[in-house]
Amino acid sequence: MKGITANTDSPNAQRKLYIETYGCAMNLADSEVVASILSDKGFQTTNLIEQADVVFINTCSIRDNAESHVWGRLKEFKPHKRKNPKLIIGVLGCMAERLKNDLLEKEQIIDIVVGPDAYRDIPRLIEQVDEGGKAVNVLLSREETYAEITPVRLSSNGVTAFISIMRGCNNMCSFCVVPFTRGRERSRPSASIVKEATELYQAGYKEVTLLGQNVDSYNETNEAGETLCNFAGLLKQVANIAPDLRVRFSSSHPKDITDEVLFAIQAYPNICNYIHFPIQSGNSRVLNLMNRTYDREWLLQRIARIREIIPNCGISTDIIAGFCSETEAEHLDTVSMMQDMQFNFAFMYAYSEREGTLAQRRYADDVPAADKSRRLAEIISTQQKNSVYLNQQEIGKIHTVLAEGFSKRSDQDLRGRNDQNIIVIFPKEQYQKGQYVRVQIISATQTTLIGKAIEQISQP
Ligand code: SAM
Ligand code: SF4
Ligand code: F3S
Repeated sequence: MKGITANTDSPNAQRKLYIETYGCAMNLADSEVVASILSDKGFQTTNLIEQADVVFINTCSIRDNAESHVWGRLKEFKPHKRKNPKLIIGVLGCMAERLKNDLLEKEQIIDIVVGPDAYRDIPRLIEQVDEGGKAVNVLLSREETYAEITPVRLSSNGVTAFISIMRGCNNMCSFCVVPFTRGRERSRPSASIVKEATELYQAGYKEVTLLGQNVDSYNETNEAGETLCNFAGLLKQVANIAPDLRVRFSSSHPKDITDEVLFAIQAYPNICNYIHFPIQSGNSRVLNLMNRTYDREWLLQRIARIREIIPNCGISTDIIAGFCSETEAEHLDTVSMMQDMQFNFAFMYAYSEREGTLAQRRYADDVPAADKSRRLAEIISTQQKNSVYLNQQEIGKIHTVLAEGFSKRSDQDLRGRNDQNIIVIFPKEQYQKGQYVRVQIISATQTTLIGKAIEQISQP
């Protein structure tokens, strides 16, 4: 983002930070906070690891393969450390929080371990390493929201940006490691969120995504604990900044999506008609074991309510295949739920047991790996059919697309997303990124709509 320059008076002015980010959008937003904290101390950011004095890897623990990937990357950092023994290597994020000092023991090249709530301490931790030690801070906080830190927008397209509105999670889904790695839920003051969104808009951004593990439980309170602003109120405040600033949000827990939020989406053309609605399973017994606090019937009536209030709402979901003790019939309940619900797209995973979670302590991870993979494949194939079918229904229709940049394949085509969060590609002609363009859909694949621009419009 404009206006952020490194502090060139600092003794760190020649030092360069390289940061690699894994995991969810929260981690991407956190890396931008870390870059900002170090920029204040004079560090420049670089995209080239060879030029770096400090290498950070911001990590994810959500599934075993996310962690394996990070271990692999750390091994690949070794030649850089050999070439430059002064190179500082730090592990940030959820793996840092989960494994703490164990990281230092398992991998000698690591100098710094920092959990998600301790990023303000990074300059001091770097000094500690400069003096010849190793440095760890994995304290979780009940208050930290990095509210007043203006993130340095890393690899930004200049059109869309994430804004972190809350941290942590108070839900205890039995499969999930996040409450352990991110701590208790806390909401960032609404004034600082609106300020950040306004500054982004003034810098030319046209879309903000409000981020949290469970945004619908956003709750700004006064000292007496009374609600000052809930999520619907926050959405409206951000949408009121400007009619040509699109607002999205992620992620929601189905139990917390209120009618008030649905009516706000319906009332404001610039709040996108799109909800991520992670069901996890379509079977009530499995949902109960997962501690999701809803059952299949409740999900069905809630999705019906979304479609009633916002008839053209895009809905996506998350599914876990092969959770502890899931039977074949229970798996088929998930498949049938997907067929009935017709989600626009889905993130689908095989269950991965995480140490310390409720599920790991209480239930056996007893669905054989081969069955998990097959069930996952069936779930993916169900979703592929739904996505192809739904995208084909859009052929001939006109969508408002915010152009975000060139398509991956050609600089003659622009790429953006429609209101429902589906990717749309169209020939560039006279149009530019950052513009709202009405596009008529000509053809469709499973993931993308392809169209032809009709006209530019000033707002969605
Ligand atoms: N807070 C969000 C929610 O409640 O939906 C998202 C949490 S997580 C970052 C994203 C997704 O990862 C979850 O919705 C779930 O489908 C999946 N996930 C979490 N823990 C998992 C595990 N142990 N094994 C497989 N998938 C998991
Ligand atoms: Fe994990 Fe559940 Fe919290 Fe989402 S709501 S982060 S799945 S514990
Ligand atoms: Fe991963 Fe942590 Fe996000 S575990 S999904 S990076 S909150």
